[in-house]
Parts: sequence; structure tokens; C-alpha cells
Amino acid sequence: MAERQRKSWLDGAVGYEIYTRSFMDSSGDGFGDLAGIADRLDYLAWLGIDIVWLTPIYPSPDHDHGYDVADYKAVRAEHGTVADVEALLEKAHSLDLKVLLDIVPNHTSSEHEWFKTALADPSSPERAMYLFRDPAPDGGPPNNWISHFGGPAWTLDASSGQYYCHLFLPEQPDLDWRNPAVLDAFDDIYRFWFERGVDGFRIDVAHGLLKHPSFADNPKVREAGEGSGPLAKFFAFDHKFDMDQDDNVQIFARWQAIADNYDATLVAESGVTDHRRLARYVGPDALDLSFFLKPGWMTWEPAEIVAEHLSLADVEPNGISWVISNHDQPRPVSRFTRNEPDTSRGLDRSLAVTTLQMILGGVPFLYYGEELGLGDAIIDPAAREDPVATRNDTDGGEARDVARSPMPWDTSARNGFTTGTPWIASADRESAETVETQKNDPASAVHRYRQLLAVRRSFPDMHSGTYERLDAPTAEVAVIRRDSVLVIANLSTETVSVSAAGDQWQVEFLSAAGEVESEGGTITVSPELSVVLSATS
Ligand code: GLC
Repeated sequence: MAERQRKSWLDGAVGYEIYTRSFMDSSGDGFGDLAGIADRLDYLAWLGIDIVWLTPIYPSPDHDHGYDVADYKAVRAEHGTVADVEALLEKAHSLDLKVLLDIVPNHTSSEHEWFKTALADPSSPERAMYLFRDPAPDGGPPNNWISHFGGPAWTLDASSGQYYCHLFLPEQPDLDWRNPAVLDAFDDIYRFWFERGVDGFRIDVAHGLLKHPSFADNPKVREAGEGSGPLAKFFAFDHKFDMDQDDNVQIFARWQAIADNYDATLVAESGVTDHRRLARYVGPDALDLSFFLKPGWMTWEPAEIVAEHLSLADVEPNGISWVISNHDQPRPVSRFTRNEPDTSRGLDRSLAVTTLQMILGGVPFLYYGEELGLGDAIIDPAAREDPVATRNDTDGGEARDVARSPMPWDTSARNGFTTGTPWIASADRESAETVETQKNDPASAVHRYRQLLAVRRSFPDMHSGTYERLDAPTAEVAVIRRDSVLVIANLSTETVSVSAAGDQWQVEFLSAAGEVESEGGTITVSPELSVVLSATS
């Protein structure tokens, strides 16, 4: 088979995740919509974004905020219509922006017609699209698998006496990816959207698709600890039999071949943390890109953050979508200053890591509001929406609502997100956190992010030059060179000196107010500062 060509439009591109329901509401129902997004694409083009990814837009009973899809070939009324998708694509393409949708193949909604038929008629072909299994000899669930969101990964279908598998909520039954009918159905869904001009997809829970045919118990590797939430309980197991199966890659290759016919891209959401395992998700026989989620989970641990980035980039310097933020985690400005009295370092630390990511290749993504330096939203515990919080008796530490509040556009009521009542109740943001105020302040976060993206664009070596890792003075510092561009990420609390002999270096970008001196082949960088330099000779 001829090797796949890398898509030229991915070279140097930067992505932006839009949490669809919270970005911009044009209709006044308190719910973000496609027309609202289309209206704000100019802002993203101004910022320097190339690709936008929209979280699910499909009809959904909303048990997991749209990640429970009832119909993959339609649009939820609150978000708009298929015609609105087409209008959004047209506007995006006129601004040189590409648009990715979010596909959810691991599971459907329990309200999907397939699952309704599967329950109603155990002899139907739809039944075989899901993972129904007989009980264990004691009448309990078939094995010890548990759900990410609490409780067993099995729910009893009382009318047939069988259990069905769900790695998330009972309202999110898992599909059987060993059934060819499931593969065919999704090929058709991809084509439906590609025919309408969609530029690609983010693939939800890509690492979960296939389950091991043995359906054996997962080994328990640690105790989750008293009072721990559902995700901590989930990760107390080695997910040997329900996640990251070797043959998932064959499904990825099949999908990417379909996408390639449309010059479209696919990006895996993969929770895989092992760098070599993750590298299998991308490349000539797999997908264009995969997210690496771990930096989005971490608190401020400089040496670990550096190590996670550098060792993955050594293994895979082209196919990673780097992030420190998405809709499933507390925002990095808060996470990176957790348990510290002074939270003002959060933005500088976030931008220091993102600056490093910009030279690691692949397609880094920002999450809406990250460019404004937003910290976690203030949400009244009684008003929580996330099922991880509402269905579990935990302290709410794992609730994802804090990263899902309305985009603060301006200082009007509800920060200009809606004229109605937002779907999620959160405190309005301060003036300094809004797009309107920041656009007028050249020192604001949005201008700093914009400048970083502009520097990456004007120095193509920064993404496409030959990747070289240089010696760093400590484990909390990363030094990467790509031909004429050098990035020094000093995440430590000390001023450090790096030797980069043989060239004159000019400073192009500083992630924060700080100092950089370049003299006689030695570059000195002040604490918690990343710097982009270009060779002038
Ligand atoms: C992914 C999504 C998350 C969702 C889950 C189940 O991890 O990012 O929001 O709850 O999959 O679909």
C-alpha cells in the first residue's frame, strides 16, 4: 500500500476546541448554537486559529451533555440544523478555517433507535450491535469491569435476563466493534458529513472501541482510597481487557482511508498514557493525529510536565495534538496553582507549557477561554450539571462543570453569551476576563496567545524544521531546536543558563514578563518563563 501523504493543511496548524453549548447563543434559549459559532469565527481567525473542533452537535437526551448520541446524522434542535452546519462550514472556509465535528463511536445513547430495537427484540440484528452478555454464575454482572462514571460497567436488561456493557453511563451502551454491521454504519456516518464539507472529526474514546474477546476480569492494581470519586476508582484497575486493544488501529486505518478521500483529518481522543502505545494511534497505518491528554490532568509538577512532553515528542514528533485543557478537566490556570495561596501565576505557567508545545510538532489545541487566561468557573454545588458529580456521592472534585461555563464575550449581562438563561448557572466573569476588554489591552492574555500563534506562523521552522532536543540544565527545563528556531521552556523557579553556541539568537516571544539574555553562546532565562528565539546568523 502506498504511504499516505501528510495533509499540507495540518502543517503548522493550531486547533481550538469549542464547547458547543457554551460558546455563543444566537437564539436566546441559553444554549450555544451553530449560528452563534459562525458569528464568532472572525474572532478565532483574528486570534490565529486554523482548525476548530465542535463538541457533539447531535440530538441527545443529554445524560452526558451530548456524548450520548441519539442520531448521528442530524443536529440537535437547540444547536440548529444540518443547513446551519453547511452555513458554518462556508463561513469557516471563507476565513481559511477548517471545522472538525466530534464523533462518538464507543457508545450510543440508550435512546438511539438501534438500542431501542436491541432491547425490544433480542433476536434483532441491532441486538448484536451492542455487548449483551449472560450473567455470571452468581447472577451478577459478567465480569468486574466498572464504569468511568461510577458503578459497574454492566446494567441488567431485566426483560431478557442479560446484561449490557457501558464504559460510561447506563444511558451510554457500548457498541460491539467486532460486528461488521457497526463498522458499516459508521463508515456511512463519516461519509454523510464529509459529503457536506466537514473537514474531519475528533474521535471520542478512541481507545475504548474494541474489548478483548475473553471479557476477562481486569486486574486491580491499587486501592482507590476512601471517599475517592469514580474516575479514581476506574484507574485503580489495569484496563487490560476493556481499553486500548491492539486491533483498534485497524479500525483507525479504515476510517482514515475514508477521510483521506475527502482530504479530511481524524484526531483520536485517547486516554493512553504510555508514549509508545499512544504513538501506534498515528502515522501511515493509523490516524493523522491523536490527543495526548495527560498534561491536561496534571497539576504543577514541572519536572514531570517536561518529561511527559519530551519523551513523547522523541517517540512521535509529528502526530500529537498537544493540550493542557479540555472540557473534561479543571482549567489549567486553576490546576497549575492548586493549593497555592497565590493563583496569579496560573496564566504564566499555562502559557509557558503551551509555548513548549508549539515546537513539538503535530497540531496543538487551545480550549475556548484558555486564551483569556480563564480559571475555573464558580458553580454553586447545588447547581452542578455533570453526571460525574450528580450521580456520585463524592466531594465534587472530579466535576467537569467548572470548565464548561459560558464564553465571556463582553461586560453585558451573562457576558454577552445569551439574552436568555444559560443552560449552566455560573457567576459572570469580571471585565478583565472578557474578549471585549482584553482585545483593547495589548498586555492581556488574548494578545499574548495571539502573538505566540503569529510567531509560529511566521517561523515555519518552529513546526516543520528538524526536531532536535538539546541538553537542558535541569529536569525542569526543556530546550528544543528546529533548525532556525529555539525554544527554551524554563518551568523551574531558578534563572537558568543554556548553551546554544554557533548562532546569534534573537528573542521572538516571551511567555511572561521576564528576562532573557543571549551572550557568547549562552542564553539566560528567568524563572517560569518560556522563550522562542530565532537564529540570525
Ligand atoms: C470523552 C468525552 C467526555 C465524555 C466521555 C464519554 O472522554 O470527552 O466528555 O463524557 O468521552 O463519551
